[in-house]
Amino acid sequence: MQNFNLYKRLIHKDILVSTNDFAVNLVKSDKPVEGTVIMADFQTKGKGQKDAYWISEKGSNLTFSVLLYPSFLDPAKNFYLSMALSLGIVDMLMFYNIDASIKWPNDIYTKNGKIAGILIENGIQNDEIKYSVLGIGLNVNQEIFPEYIQHPTSMRIELKTVNDLEAVLKKLLESLEYWFIKLYDLDFNMIKKQYEHKLLFRDQLKEFYQGDGIFSGTIKGINDYGQLLIADESDTIRAYNFKEVKYYHKKT
Ligand code: BTN
Repeated sequence: MQNFNLYKRLIHKDILVSTNDFAVNLVKSDKPVEGTVIMADFQTKGKGQKDAYWISEKGSNLTFSVLLYPSFLDPAKNFYLSMALSLGIVDMLMFYNIDASIKWPNDIYTKNGKIAGILIENGIQNDEIKYSVLGIGLNVNQEIFPEYIQHPTSMRIELKTVNDLEAVLKKLLESLEYWFIKLYDLDFNMIKKQYEHKLLFRDQLKEFYQGDGIFSGTIKGINDYGQLLIADESDTIRAYNFKEVKYYHKKT
């Protein structure tokens, strides 16, 4: 059985431009051991999804990247890395009694808003995943966010207490390790089932925006390629890519 020892492989920096960039450069120069974690108290240009920046108050939250070499995984099925990562975050939050769901494809939400985001950068060559940098931004103790960040929340907002960053990090790395082991044991069915179980809006009739049109449908799950399965009103199920369909999470 694989043992990652993530906590023991932690490189902790005060400031980096982006932990993902640092990790990618490190792979290219050094090829550090699998399971190396690069963490920074502050990122000057943390990267978010869709070319956005990831803004995080200095020393309040967790921003780090985990380096894996999952060469056994078919690159077409690289979404399993995202599933394992999301489930690790959701499980850690559950340990703190925070009920979180996964907003497909890769945002972690509580009922109050987005608590964590992930950004995975894979190095694929000759149809093999040579390396994968799994970046996580988790809002832990930040209470006030810039206005342009839509629906943010944090563990502090959820729990109304300040949390020990070190303890949260330890727990999160432990949870991630559990799901990485499942992945390396090729437990694909179990991972997909759990991801679907935690999927926001699953089995609820919702409106989706596709191109210029709107349609009603029900999320049924995902497939091995990370496409979202939506049943239309006549119960026909179609698979959608990331950019093909949009839905909105309304703050409650
Ligand atoms: C998102 O937009 O939801 C994804 C955010 C991912 C942010 C994390 S913070 C650590 C790692 N390094 C980066 O530059 N980005 C990711």
